[in-house]
Formats: sequence, structure tokens, C-alpha cells
Amino acid sequence: MTRLVCVSSGKGGTGKTTVTSNLGAALTQFGTDTIVLDANLTNPNLGFHLGIPLYPNTLHDVLKGNAHITEAMYIHNSGLRVVPAGLSIEDLVDTSPENLSDVLLDTVGEPDFVLVDSAAGLGSESINAIEASDEVLVVTNPNLPAVTDALKTVNIAEEAGTDVLGIVVNRKTGHESELDEDEIESMLGHEVIMEVPEHEKVQEALAVKKPMVHHDPNHHVSERFKGVAAEVAGLDYEPDLREEGFFTKIVNKLR
Ligand SMILES: Nc1ncnc2c1ncn2[C@@H]1O[C@H](COP(=O)(O)OP(=O)(O)OP(=O)(O)O)[C@@H](O)[C@H]1O
Ligand SMILES: [Mg+2]
Repeated sequence: MTRLVCVSSGKGGTGKTTVTSNLGAALTQFGTDTIVLDANLTNPNLGFHLGIPLYPNTLHDVLKGNAHITEAMYIHNSGLRVVPAGLSIEDLVDTSPENLSDVLLDTVGEPDFVLVDSAAGLGSESINAIEASDEVLVVTNPNLPAVTDALKTVNIAEEAGTDVLGIVVNRKTGHESELDEDEIESMLGHEVIMEVPEHEKVQEALAVKKPMVHHDPNHHVSERFKGVAAEVAGLDYEPDLREEGFFTKIVNKLR
């Protein structure tokens, strides 16, 4: 059965697209048939994270009724299927975000997962994405503004009847001012699936247009993304969360 999973956050820049691309890549590595779809219609960038070249048809064309979803699907060399969004301002003209639900229903049946990368904010664009999905994975950063916005996302999902799969706490630095896992769980009322540290390798992966799990598959940050994928898919996988040692850190810095 196809599971429609929205990756949402409320606050912008928490790492939704990073989580979507890595979750999609990891789920594909685990042997599932997965599609990732860029539902950030105003500021799409899932294509950059996955190195997708400009593509003739996009989600915008599908929402306008000018193309079928299968005509806007790019097959990444990893096997992951990607539905990018259009990058030009003109793409926004006559686009009907409310058609997203029908578009997602057109994907149901064949793949195991359709991951929906949502826009920031809690406007109609992101609410549509949550309402059109069966489940939502909430991405937050460990600070009060991000968690407060995540709570609004949780509330919207619960009102829409969309199951909250859990929370990914991304960009954790370990600074004492940050909220810890227990505080975030008690504020949001849902389990933290994984904490992902702030790490320069994630920026490096974006610069080479690869998900972290392809760029440096054995890195502990990649392992954390694989851990999220295993949890979402209900697979038995023990991620290796050991961080690089002191000397490796120094060598990486010098490179
Ligand atoms: N764990 C991390 N460590 C370091 N940098 C990160 C991490 N996660 C994400 N980033 C960086 O933060 C930036 C924002 O990430 P991303 O685009 O995934 O956020 P987003 O929530 O999708 O943003 P938007 O709300 O604009 O769609 C990117 O430059 C990304 O490389
Ligand atoms: Mg994004």
C-alpha cells in the first residue's frame, strides 16, 4: 500500500528538503519503491538537493492540468523517482495548489512511499500538503521559535486527521541554550525519532548536489538519516551513531 508522507515544519530552513532527499535516498537503498515530490511551489529546491537537471515537465504543469504526474517524474540514477517543481515565476501563474490531493491520489497503488517536501509557513500551500497526505514527519530545530511553529504543524495535522509519524530534530549544535529531546517531546506530544547534528558535511553534500547518504554513506549523519528511514518504514536497522574521532575532525578541517 502506498504511504503518502508529508515532511513539514512550520518554520523555514529547518531542513525539510534535506530530510526529504535523504529519507527518499535511504528508503530507496532499503529496497522500497519511493517517489519524492517538491510541493514547495513558491521556493522549490528539492531538485538542487538531488542534482536533477532542468526538466521539461514539473509539478506545476501537473497542477495546471497540462501534464500527467508520470510525465513530470525524473528517475534519479539511484532509482529514486523525483517530481521536481518549476523554478520560474511564470510557473506560479494559474497553478492550483488545491489540486495536489488529486495529483497524489494518481500516484497511489504502485510505489511504497510518496514523500512530499512541503513549503515553509502555515499558508494554504503547506496546509494543502498536510491535508493531502496520510502521515506527516515534523522537522524542527532545537529552539523555542522552531518548536512553537512545529506545534502549529502538529495541530494542523491532527485537525486534518493526518497521522503524526514523529519528530526529527535537525541542526542540533549541543549548545546549552537548546531544548533537549524530553522538552521537545513534551511540547509537541510526539516522539522524537532522531536528532541530527549540525554538520558541515550536510552543506558540502548540498554543494555537490547529492543527498548526504550518497555523498558520505558511512558518516554518522548519514546513519541518522538511515535511522529515520528505517523507523518510518518499520525496518530493523541499527544505525552506527559513533561520531568521527578528534583526529578525523582535524584532518577534515585541514582538507
Ligand atoms: N544537519 C544539518 N547540518 C548543517 N546544515 C544543514 C543541516 N540540515 C540542513 N542544513 C542546511 O540548512 C539549509 C536549509 O536546509 P533545507 O533547505 O533542507 O531547509 P528547508 O526546511 O527545506 O528550507 P525551506 O523552508 O526554505 O524549504 C541548507 O543549506 C542545508 O544544507
Ligand atoms: Mg525546503
